[in-house]
Amino acid sequence: MSPPATTRSAPGAAATGAASKHPHATGPPRQQNGGVTAFATNPVLRRYWHAVARPDALLAGPLAVTLLGERLVVWRAADGRLAAAVDRCPHREAPLSAGAVTDLGLQCPYHGWTYDAAGRCVLVPSAGAGAAIPARAALEPVWVAECYGLLWLCLDEPAAPIPAIAEDADRCFRRINQPVERWAASTTRLVDNFLDTAHFPFVHLGSFGGAADAEVARVALEPLDDFYGYRYEVVAANALGAAASGQASATVERRMSTGFALPFLVRSTIEYDSGLRHTLLLCSAPLDDTATWFTFVVWRNDDFSVPGDEVTRLDRMIGAEDKRMLEQVPGPLPLDATTLVNVQADRASVEWKRRLKDLLSEH
Ligand code: FES
Ligand SMILES: [Fe+2]
Repeated sequence: MSPPATTRSAPGAAATGAASKHPHATGPPRQQNGGVTAFATNPVLRRYWHAVARPDALLAGPLAVTLLGERLVVWRAADGRLAAAVDRCPHREAPLSAGAVTDLGLQCPYHGWTYDAAGRCVLVPSAGAGAAIPARAALEPVWVAECYGLLWLCLDEPAAPIPAIAEDADRCFRRINQPVERWAASTTRLVDNFLDTAHFPFVHLGSFGGAADAEVARVALEPLDDFYGYRYEVVAANALGAAASGQASATVERRMSTGFALPFLVRSTIEYDSGLRHTLLLCSAPLDDTATWFTFVVWRNDDFSVPGDEVTRLDRMIGAEDKRMLEQVPGPLPLDATTLVNVQADRASVEWKRRLKDLLSEH
């Protein structure tokens, strides 16, 4: 991970600035029956890591990314270092993401001012060589890290590291990445969905849900490494056969666990009778209250013979089914305890909502 050379201003001040800079990015907070729904500009979220892109997205030059209602730019400097900042040139506010990376740094497309990886201006072409550079000619840096084949951003001093996935350092496992997609659904809706198994026989009828029992067994919540959640077993239709499960039967038993790490990460582990283990990290990052950067990462201890695209085909089908459902559900999820009706099967989601609401109310 590479923290920026300087840290940001106090969280409260930074978030106020963000809201006033981009007043149309998130729209007014939605209130449903008095429920708390708006979350994306809460300053506490700026202190957590959010996965926003694949590293190869930087090959073509600087990348514009909206995260938590802020417009940001991410680039790789000529020496290979990653850098990120608020996407605004302090000279005349041009978007630096429309510029280019030169040997000196990130060059603004408007008048060519150029910034190093720490956000310091190192060149003002109009001033001529040797002229003093104004002290305030600096970008607002953002923390950036490369981890699990993804680019992660954190807008203020990180409150917690990116959760550990032990499989990533285990040579028995390979890692398979997916593209980062923009979903027109609220991040809180995504996380709620990923913690929920009761939708399997309905939403996932076309993939693995055909054999799932609609009745959801009681689960106990427990710490699961860096996550918090539950273990369970499902009988799944073996839709894609051995490529997905390592066995050829019509149905397969999947011993699973699902847990969350605040604010928006979910890890699912699947173990088949064949000994095959398949771990998924579901990464959801808010562009704003109603749109999400979504991607997932798979770790798998197979013999590496089946192409990665093939082993993740089932996961991609499942993701597309969730996306189709969630893009029909308007606005963010109410986080308070009374707006929605919950049943036993919603236990993990209710616990995540409670903890997220506590986190958000710290500010
Ligand atoms: S706006 Fe960036 S150099 Fe003028
Ligand atoms: Fe789902």
